[in-house]
Amino acid sequence: MSTDLDGRVVLVTGGARGLGRSHAHALAARGAAVVVNDSGAALDGTCADPAAADATAAEIRAAGGNAIASAADVATPAGARQAVAAALDEFGRLDALVANAGILRDRTFAKMPLEDFDAVVRVHLSAAAYCAHAAWPALVTSGSGRIVLTTSASGLYGQFGQANYAAAKMGLVGLLHVLGQEGARTGVLVNAIAPVATTRMTEPLLPPDALRELAPERVSPVVAHLVSADCRQTRLVLEVGAGQVARVQVVASAPVHQPADDDGVAEVLDRLAAAEGGTSFRSTNEAVARLLPAARLQAPARER
Ligand SMILES: NC(=O)c1ccc[n+]([C@@H]2O[C@H](COP(=O)([O-])OP(=O)(O)OC[C@H]3O[C@@H](n4cnc5c(N)ncnc54)[C@H](O)[C@@H]3O)[C@@H](O)[C@H]2O)c1
Repeated sequence: MSTDLDGRVVLVTGGARGLGRSHAHALAARGAAVVVNDSGAALDGTCADPAAADATAAEIRAAGGNAIASAADVATPAGARQAVAAALDEFGRLDALVANAGILRDRTFAKMPLEDFDAVVRVHLSAAAYCAHAAWPALVTSGSGRIVLTTSASGLYGQFGQANYAAAKMGLVGLLHVLGQEGARTGVLVNAIAPVATTRMTEPLLPPDALRELAPERVSPVVAHLVSADCRQTRLVLEVGAGQVARVQVVASAPVHQPADDDGVAEVLDRLAAAEGGTSFRSTNEAVARLLPAARLQAPARER
């Protein structure tokens, strides 16, 4: 049975190409009204082409779905507000955000101009925060607001030549955990996917057989569920691709006693470097409490 998205309004950033285009089609096919946001950027984020979002929105309408285009650059606060406003102006509500827009400027760190670091962080991390911030009141009003962030194996595990991209993608995991905690009280559920799919980002890197297995359309059903009112989960990070889904967690080892002086630190670190597995914690409080129960933090419980 396919996921029911009837009556839901979803904003998909970077929705004109690759994974975003696949998500936009999949959501519309399940009954959602979709705002296809895309600035029409080149892979490195330069240029802009408003025709890109228009084309995907038109394809969806031609297939019988409901979609409008937004060409706003969501890597600016004003652009993010415009994309959210497009949903509210046209459909009167917004139930879910799929933060998917992305660019690449790969270079080893020593050779990476800092403007390339900033540009990539802006499109992947800041844009997701800008859109979530602009969308938040509407998501709370929805009563079943959903956010799907798009992280990457590059950030979760590291990828040579992608310091900017990996930093942004792991930054999204921090954003996920805090928005998930803060959204829980108002029904806003926040999850992330780390997709693997054939798009212009990956085509040059993968062998032809793998490219065939990695159709973006195999990722989108998970996104459709995560934006649905039926979704029950929050703060999941899911690797999705080639018909497989896996959960990714940050784990910590059991604490090892560290002597008060410098002696023995190297041995302690050697033991920890060899440690496998570990425990995942739902909050900073839980993690800190196992080091020193008396250090249990008070601040997060308070509304500030
Ligand atoms: N393809 C993969 O295997 C893979 C793996 C891990 C993560 N991802 C992530 O998935 C997302 C989609 O990537 P893709 O592979 O489909 O790439 P893609 O290049 O095909 O699509 C990205 C889209 O984002 C748009 N975009 C870029 N900057 C924008 C901005 N400032 N405002 C609005 N739109 C903007 C582009 O115009 C483009 O259409 C990205 O966040 C990417 O990092 C992809």
